[in-house]
Amino acid sequence: MQKPENHSHISDAANEVVVDIQHISKTFGDNEVLKDISLQVHRGENVVVLGKSGQGKSVTIQCIVGLLHPDSGSVKVFGDEVANLSDKKLKELRTKVGFLFQSGALYDSMTVRENLEFPLTRVLKMKDKQEIDNRVQEVLEGVGLIDAIDKMPSDLSGGMRKRVGLARTLIVKPEIMLYDEPTTGLDPITSREISQLILNMQKKYKTASIIITHDMECAKITGDRVVIMNEGEYIAEGTFDELESSDDELVSSFFNQTV
Ligand SMILES: Nc1ncnc2c1ncn2[C@@H]1O[C@H](COP(=O)(O)OP(=O)(O)O)[C@@H](O)[C@H]1O
Ligand SMILES: [Mg+2]
Repeated sequence: MQKPENHSHISDAANEVVVDIQHISKTFGDNEVLKDISLQVHRGENVVVLGKSGQGKSVTIQCIVGLLHPDSGSVKVFGDEVANLSDKKLKELRTKVGFLFQSGALYDSMTVRENLEFPLTRVLKMKDKQEIDNRVQEVLEGVGLIDAIDKMPSDLSGGMRKRVGLARTLIVKPEIMLYDEPTTGLDPITSREISQLILNMQKKYKTASIIITHDMECAKITGDRVVIMNEGEYIAEGTFDELESSDDELVSSFFNQTV
């Protein structure tokens, strides 16, 4: 008997693991940062990593883009072991992985439009002016900042700069997004807007994302799945609501913070 091929194809694509971290460890000197971390991210999924400061959250995502390598264990992105990639392949990988750093720095001497054109012309080597214009317009509309297109970064608020930073990362249409503390330093209202935007961008671009945060509202808004990291290990995993109602003392301590 023949299998219903099409059907299984669709579910395979939806379940595709785009980031596969298996049992990684990382020590700096005598600082054992990652002990045993495993994490899978599926296509189109938003995974939130919660953890206190200094737990190795940023180290973990730097391993995904090959900025750091684990001492042991495996990090595969789109099925390839990152540590074994040639420089050329690593460069290719980085065009598919958007990285929104904590600072999300823009080029101060360039307008918003120029900041957004930069990755298209320099990274993707796009030449078609019309296509570049279209992409800039589309992504700026997506983050609700079309009116700021000719402004300088210094004319924008912190929240607006964050949005432009997000737009600049998304404009190359990455298949994976890594958000490192996307709401840190923002007021509660702007934080909520950015969290909502991260969710909207996932829906619009079907991007798989890892969102590192200690902002519980951000975790609740953006996360399909939440993992909690403590002392170099993942101690719990579930939906936000599942973890919020957990009986585990350590897990519930994350949800009973006063911040
Ligand atoms: N390149 C590095 N060299 C040495 N130590 C590092 C390096 N990167 C991070 N660390 C250390 O690893 C620990 C975890 O850092 P990090 O991943 O940035 O924590 P966080 O969970 O706050 O993102 C910290 O003690 C930090 O000092
Ligand atoms: Mg960090």
